[in-house]
Amino acid sequence: MRFLSGLLLIMALSPLVNAGPKTGPAYTEEPFGTLADGTKITAYTLANTNGAWAKIITYGGIVTELHVPDQNGQFDDIVLGFDNLKGYLAGHPYFGCITGRVANRVRNAQFTLDGKTYKVGATNGEHSLHGGISGFDKKVWKAEPMLTADGPALKLSYTSRDKEEGYPGNLQCVVTYTMTADNALRIDYHATTDKPTPVNLTNHSYFNLAGHHAGSIGEHILQLAAEQFTASDELLLPTGKIVSVANTPFDFRQPTAVGKRLQEAGGKPVGYDLNYVTGMQPTPQPRHVATLSEPKTGRILKVLTTEPGVQLYTGNFLDGTITGKGGAVYKQHTAICLETQHFPDSANRPEFPSIILRPGETYRQTTIYQFSTAKK
Ligand code: GLA
Repeated sequence: MRFLSGLLLIMALSPLVNAGPKTGPAYTEEPFGTLADGTKITAYTLANTNGAWAKIITYGGIVTELHVPDQNGQFDDIVLGFDNLKGYLAGHPYFGCITGRVANRVRNAQFTLDGKTYKVGATNGEHSLHGGISGFDKKVWKAEPMLTADGPALKLSYTSRDKEEGYPGNLQCVVTYTMTADNALRIDYHATTDKPTPVNLTNHSYFNLAGHHAGSIGEHILQLAAEQFTASDELLLPTGKIVSVANTPFDFRQPTAVGKRLQEAGGKPVGYDLNYVTGMQPTPQPRHVATLSEPKTGRILKVLTTEPGVQLYTGNFLDGTITGKGGAVYKQHTAICLETQHFPDSANRPEFPSIILRPGETYRQTTIYQFSTAKK
C-alpha cells in the first residue's frame, strides 16, 4: 500500500520534476486530442543525443514542452503550456505558438496597401493582435517529421487563404523546427504569396529557465543588444518614435536582473512589454541579440535571429487563473517571452522596416533559441 501511494505520488509529481531525457537523434509521434470538428491533433517530440527534447503539436505549431539540462545535468521543462489539447482550446495567451499572419499589433485593425484599405480581425478593442480572431496559433498545420544533418526536425505547412482574417493573398507558410545536436531549438520560417500582403511571423514561447513551474522570473538575468526601442502609447501601439534605452528601466545592454526595475518599467499591468530595435533591417544570417540566464540552475538561453526587433514580454497579463502542466499555476511575471519579429504596427508605419511581401518574393526568418549552462 505504502509502495503504491509512493508510486502514485511520484507519478503525480513527475510532470513537475523531470520528464526527460529522451535520446535521439529521433522523433516520435503521438495523438494529442481531437478538435470539435473531428480533426485529430498530433504531438511530435524531437530529441537530440544529449537528451534535450521539444514537443510540438500540429494545433498552432505550439511548442508544448522543451526539456534542457541545468548545470548539474538535471533536465526540466522550461516553457509554459498545457498537458492536453483541452487546455489550449479553453483559451490561452499564445503559449508557445506560431504567431501570424501579422504578429503583434495593428492599429485600428486596418492598413492601406497599394492604395487599398484592408480591415483585419480586431482582437484588442478596436485593434488587432497576433493575427486576428483566428490567427496562425489556432490553425492546424500539416506536419512532416524528418531527420536532418542538423538534428530531428518537424516541417509544418499551412496555407492562409486570401481574405483570411481580412488579409489579402493566399499565403503559403512553412515553419520548420529543428532540435539541433548542440541543444538549440532552431525555427526557420518561409512564406510566399500570390498578392501583396503584410507578413510578420514569430514564436510566442514563454520561458522560465528554472522550469515552467518555478514561479517568478525576477532573478533571471537579461542582456539585450538594443540601443533603442519603439515607443508606444498606453495600448502598446507604437507612436512611431524610436527612442534610446539610455537612462530608462528598459536598458538591458549590460546583464541585469529582470526583476530589478520591473516596477519602474510601468505599464498596465506592470512589467516589460515592448519592442526592442536590434537592427533596422533583417539580416541574411541570424545574429546574437539576447542572452537570458538563470543563476540557480545555471541555464542560459541565447537568442539569435534574422529579425530587426524583439518583443520582451514578462507575462504581465498572467494572473494565476491559468493552471498548466502538472498543476503548475502561472502567476504574473512567471515567464519571459523574447518574440523575434518586425516591429509592431509595421503595416501602418512606413518609417519601420517593411513587412510587405509581394508575389515572386520569399519571406524568410530564422530564430535560434540556443541553450547551454554556466558550468559544463
Ligand atoms: C505579446 C504582447 C503582449 C500580450 C502577449 C499575450 O507579448 O506584446 O501585450 O498580448 O503577447 O498575452
